[in-house]
Amino acid sequence: MKQNNLILAVNGTLMRGLELENNLKNVNATFIKESKTEKAYSLFSINDQYPAMIKVDEGGNTVDVELYAISEEGIKEVLSKEPPGLTIKEITLIDGQKVQGVIGLPEITKGQKEITTYGGWRNYLKSKKENKMKKLFLYYSYTGNGDLVAKEMEKRGFELRKIDTVKRLPKSFFWSMMVGGFQAGLSLRAKLKEYDHNIEDYEQIVIGSPIWNGKFPPAINTVLKTLPLKDKNVSFLFYSGSGEGAKALKRIKKEYPNAQYVFLQEPKKHLDELNKINY
Ligand SMILES: Cc1cc2nc3c(=O)[nH]c(=O)nc-3n(C[C@H](O)[C@H](O)[C@H](O)COP(=O)(O)O)c2cc1C
Repeated sequence: MKQNNLILAVNGTLMRGLELENNLKNVNATFIKESKTEKAYSLFSINDQYPAMIKVDEGGNTVDVELYAISEEGIKEVLSKEPPGLTIKEITLIDGQKVQGVIGLPEITKGQKEITTYGGWRNYLKSKKENKMKKLFLYYSYTGNGDLVAKEMEKRGFELRKIDTVKRLPKSFFWSMMVGGFQAGLSLRAKLKEYDHNIEDYEQIVIGSPIWNGKFPPAINTVLKTLPLKDKNVSFLFYSGSGEGAKALKRIKKEYPNAQYVFLQEPKKHLDELNKINY
């Protein structure tokens, strides 16, 4: 049996309970204790898959590490299975002790997110979990198709927010089509009942809208006019009798050129249309 006469400080996926922990176990390395580096390192998240710690002359901080007793052969074996861009070099711990440590090659940190302020990879992972991406489905529905779509979006992790107008359309089908179609045709806006205007907290916003007279209904015109959607990651989900809405689409392409969109044909009648939703 090779002697575990070296100390290796690990700062990422080799730590206890993380993906590559077994690479240490397989070479009979033994856990000693948790520790920190001296205040001279920066930490980067490489594509959110593993961290890269690098030594810096200025602006460095401590980084959480775990210390293992390991053999020289063990170190070689562990290094051969490390993700790309990592190597093992001498590093200094907070108490001045010099040990072997996993270090990133500076070139792999280019364009990657610096996470030094988190103090370590575990803290970063924890904070990512807590700030799980919030998604909002903000929609209007007059005859219930949109509500069905909303149920599907909720299953996909979207928070729901339904808007409604202060005034209803006339009760008769004929007159509701006439009045609604007329208003939409002129791109009029409607006064909305009070709703939560906060969209700051959401990383993804999908606007759900019926098609009226080929265009957006007045309720959605108000939303598009009043909420600062252009700064956000916004997409559109349309539902209409025909599964189309040429003028609304033209407007989206002009005003939100990067937005994704999907058209569903009357989901209340064609349930399988919900499978088209790709958000
Ligand atoms: C006033 C009005 C105008 C409409 N105009 C169109 C239209 O131009 N093209 C179309 O395909 N469907 C049209 N429809 C049908 C709706 O877009 C369709 O029923 C949609 O699924 C309704 O969604 P909701 O049930 O959530 O309100 C219109 C419906 C109304 C009430």
